[in-house]
Amino acid sequence: MIQLHDKQFVPFISAQEIDFAIAKIAALVEDDFADEVPVFVGVLNGAFMVVSDFMKHYKSPCEVSFIKMASYEGTTSTNEVKQLIGLDRDLSGRSVVIIEDIVDTGNTLVALKDLFKKQNVKHFKVATLFFKPEALKNDIKIDYVGIRIPNKFIVGFGLDYDGLGRNLPEVYQLKE
Ligand code: IMP
Ligand code: MG
Repeated sequence: MIQLHDKQFVPFISAQEIDFAIAKIAALVEDDFADEVPVFVGVLNGAFMVVSDFMKHYKSPCEVSFIKMASYEGTTSTNEVKQLIGLDRDLSGRSVVIIEDIVDTGNTLVALKDLFKKQNVKHFKVATLFFKPEALKNDIKIDYVGIRIPNKFIVGFGLDYDGLGRNLPEVYQLKE
């Protein structure tokens, strides 16, 4: 068990299971894009570890870029997703694969889809290490999913609780 701020977390997914899931996604993406040079776009902050391991498993030519998004809870129930660091290059005509740590409500992905619609990309695909199907509030397609998890808060492997826990090599679940 570990403690971060005021909360306790219990071990949930091992480093080995995570690596296996990322290798699986990388193989599926490689099957689909090995005959071109895709651009992987990691969503900061959470996805930095997933992108790193994904790239090590992906053996064909590829490029990487990052975008930084943050969602804010407004006073209404509508969530606003803000772009904090933007894309630094022209992606028109390119095949883009978004790499996410986790898809929860899907609000971030909806904002990304809107953004990339304006970029005239050739293909727009989404890969995520974790997916909480019960939390999804939007009608969006996720092309590559590593591990489906229940709708409970997790930390580790890039995911944080109020800034802490991102450095954990495995994933922990909030203790009830
Ligand atoms: P969205 O709700 O799908 O837009 O996800 C927004 C962001 O919330 C994700 O990219 C994560 O950074 C964060 N998030 C969602 N679920 C969790 C969790 O269980 N632990 C830590 N961060 C999470
Ligand atoms: Mg994220």
